[in-house]
Amino acid sequence: MTLLKIAHVGHPVLRDRSRELTRDELASAAVQRFIDDLVETMRDASGAGLAAPQVHNPIRVCALEVTANPRYPYLPEIPLTILVNPVVASLGEETFESYEGCLSVPNLRGVVRRNTDIELTYWDRDGAQHKERVGGLAACVYQHEIDHLDGKLFLDRVEDTRTLTTWTEFERFHRQAYLEKILPLVPRMGG
Ligand code: NI
Repeated sequence: MTLLKIAHVGHPVLRDRSRELTRDELASAAVQRFIDDLVETMRDASGAGLAAPQVHNPIRVCALEVTANPRYPYLPEIPLTILVNPVVASLGEETFESYEGCLSVPNLRGVVRRNTDIELTYWDRDGAQHKERVGGLAACVYQHEIDHLDGKLFLDRVEDTRTLTTWTEFERFHRQAYLEKILPLVPRMGG
């Protein structure tokens, strides 16, 4: 496997809409190898997720995984999930102000409003279709990754730019208040 180079904000590949894959393309050795590399790159960078355009490949594929992530210690566990051609629909009006960061936006975090109850339709890496309901903070992670496939970064959704913070200043000034804010979502984590 190969570690892929991660594109940073300003690179046009992060701003294009990525294209759908056919089942034949998905089954190809090249795409299957790419998915392995995407997962390895996500793990190497301690990302909670990584979308194909972030590694310069504009196809609608993303990987998610959260297992005791040092970048996001408060996130619920998400088993390794590969989304191919995902479609997301919100199931309610409820939103949450999620403090997000991104491997393509080094050393910056900001508050983004996300739906907390979503329905996802996607193929797995074998081309099998899934429909799942995801709630709580996990729903925020899914929405962040799927945004990448539409050329959107969390920065575009930051309503109050005064929430922007480096990781060090997040730890110093914002982490504690944020941990208290996410508590109500905890019982529903991974739901
Ligand atoms: Ni991101």
